[in-house]
Amino acid sequence: MPNHSEPFAAISWNEGDTPVSIQFDDPYFAREGGRAETRHVFLAANDLPTRWQSQEQFTIAELGFGTGLNFFETLATWQREPGNCRHLRFVTFERYPMASDDLARALAPWPDLTENVNHLLEHWPPPNGTACHIIPFAGASLEIHLGDANQTVTEWNGSADAWYLDGFSPAKNPDLWSAELMAQVYGHTAPQGTFATYTAAGWVRRNLANAGFNVSKITGFGRKRHSLAGYR
Ligand SMILES: C[S@@+](CC[C@H](N)C(=O)[O-])C[C@H]1O[C@@H](n2cnc3c(N)ncnc32)[C@H](O)[C@@H]1O
Repeated sequence: MPNHSEPFAAISWNEGDTPVSIQFDDPYFAREGGRAETRHVFLAANDLPTRWQSQEQFTIAELGFGTGLNFFETLATWQREPGNCRHLRFVTFERYPMASDDLARALAPWPDLTENVNHLLEHWPPPNGTACHIIPFAGASLEIHLGDANQTVTEWNGSADAWYLDGFSPAKNPDLWSAELMAQVYGHTAPQGTFATYTAAGWVRRNLANAGFNVSKITGFGRKRHSLAGYR
């Protein structure tokens, strides 16, 4: 069992073997092209890898680690195209970690990620008693802050150059998109820092704008017409 009071995430599998959260009744990533979605919605909309290539250290923060697909795709891109970035710090906030078997099954379709996934699994699940679990990768680090992001982001004393806002759909998990949490995200964003998210829900856009971000609607991935990106 994980160290905090929550159980592991309960998962069902839809066609294509994509994981779906039973609690939130929502998939972890798009059935078709989950990985391409990560590249479009999170990497490209945060202008990555271009931005990290001109910084010696770059910090990405994420709401919702889930399967880790966003992390592994980002790590693989950074390993191929680091530019001048010598250290990638990936900080993620997760309340309901997945069990090791589920995580391995979710990422099995991408054999080129296996080496990094296996490295994570050697350190998974986070051991009892830790609030922040740090897993070193060559030149990069993954920090998992366990618990409700509404609390853990507030307690975090870092700031991100880029945010991936990847909670379940705002309609199904409004807590992860609240005005208070978006204000915390803004407060933990470096000057000129950015965010990106797959949703374009009007009230999420307003929460982000009211927090202080300059928000734009951009072309969404696949069947989604729009998604959001912005900067501080
Ligand atoms: C859409 S999934 C994230 C997908 C993930 N980024 C990936 O690459 O697979 C949303 C995640 O948010 C987490 N979550 C939901 N409510 C949360 C909360 N209040 N605090 C922290 N994490 C939360 C869920 O457990 C789930 O892992």
